[in-house]
Amino acid sequence: MPKYIFPPLASRLKSLIHAGQFIRNPFPILDAALDRFGSTYTFYMGGVQKAVITIDPKSIRHVLQKNHKGYEKSVIVTDLLGKYTGKGLLTSTGDYWLRQRRLIQPGFHKRRIDSLQVLMKMEVDACMARWAPMAVTGASFDAYEEMNHLTFRIVARTLFSTSLEEHGLVQLSQQISTLQSFIIREVRQPYKRWWFKISGQISAHLDLAREAREIIRAVIRARKNSGEVPDDLLTMLLESKYEDSGMGMEEEQLIDECLILFVAGHETSANALSWMIYLLGKHKEELLRIQTAEAGLEINMIHNVVQEALRLYPPAWVSDRISLEDDRVEDFFLPKDTMWILYIRGMHRHPDYWEEPDRFIPDRWNNPDLNKEAYMPFGSGPRMCIGEHFAIMEMELILSEIVRLWDINLISKVITEKPLVTLRPLEPVMIAIRKLY
Ligand code: HEM
Repeated sequence: MPKYIFPPLASRLKSLIHAGQFIRNPFPILDAALDRFGSTYTFYMGGVQKAVITIDPKSIRHVLQKNHKGYEKSVIVTDLLGKYTGKGLLTSTGDYWLRQRRLIQPGFHKRRIDSLQVLMKMEVDACMARWAPMAVTGASFDAYEEMNHLTFRIVARTLFSTSLEEHGLVQLSQQISTLQSFIIREVRQPYKRWWFKISGQISAHLDLAREAREIIRAVIRARKNSGEVPDDLLTMLLESKYEDSGMGMEEEQLIDECLILFVAGHETSANALSWMIYLLGKHKEELLRIQTAEAGLEINMIHNVVQEALRLYPPAWVSDRISLEDDRVEDFFLPKDTMWILYIRGMHRHPDYWEEPDRFIPDRWNNPDLNKEAYMPFGSGPRMCIGEHFAIMEMELILSEIVRLWDINLISKVITEKPLVTLRPLEPVMIAIRKLY
């Protein structure tokens, strides 16, 4: 009797042949194999690394929640990201991560986050004011660019209030966006790493990361010297004390956590919002229904659009874990060091779990019996997104304002998914807007 029971194995030769296509767009290949092998199967990623992939909600919860102690994040993204951003919540592991999470978690409690709405609204208003001339001229623009810009500014404002002046904010935004693009190149083209190194690109980007850290350091020091305590995330980080020592974070730790909030907190929301605008532009009947709803009802409709868009286009479309010990997961028994690919997008669109899974039906969320077991846009378990309330509040605020003010004319009729570290639109989301009243 073999000791281990592996899920069915997809052909390694086929995955080698399709490696190029897999890198461009893995969804058709992954989904075809799900049809063939069922909700969990073994495959060779890009023909090289053996991994177990699953869309089974029970297995995903087992790995992320029920037996989370038996699993750790893989180093693929965390090490690369950590090289540039340091040891923040998203990139750290083990006891260090747990201590940081316990320290920071209370600051992200719904009640605390609610008070950030005023700061968020300032940025949303400024964005809508910028859109006004385009409504007059009818000029089209890329909603993705706009959402990226807006969500970055929202993280900056909610972290630092007005302590980071405009010039520093623009600089930081450019530095972080350049770093993120380069990290994606490193993740996607590991075979070019030697070239990135000898051509000096890695050290140039490490310098850039150091410059970004200095901008944040200056804000932290100025805040400490000023004695001011505005109601923002930096105050929360500065006031948090470790349970064991009663001390606060060191300066380098504070910078790590600020940087990671920028990285984790702006692109995910920007992607989700771009998909929401795309979906409402494509389904004008839904847009109109919200715009003509009785006062008070539109809040629930916006909430449903957010939920449904996160189902169809989850920004965190995939997550991974490595097992730290042998473990039984549903029908399988797998050895230590098994690489798990938790294919969230696949689960969100599978007919076993959803009726008409590929259709945009915001009203499905009104059904009190809707089974939400197969819905995890923010992950699950102790490493679940710390910014969930923040993100939901932010996205609902932005979407409400857009829908209240503008009619949206979608110029780009079909947008393809671009699954990098997050799930982005491949083409610009071109829209034109018209003022409603
Ligand atoms: C639509 C928006 C967002 C989505 C879909 C999202 C999704 C996720 C997911 C799935 C994880 C867990 C990853 C894993 O277990 O491997 C995560 C972690 C995290 N998210 Fe978010 N996120 C969003 C917005 C935000 C925002 C706005 C912030 C902060 C302001 C944030 C901060 C973080 C942090 C710090 C972590 C790491 C938590 C830890 O490991 O302890 N996220 N996010």
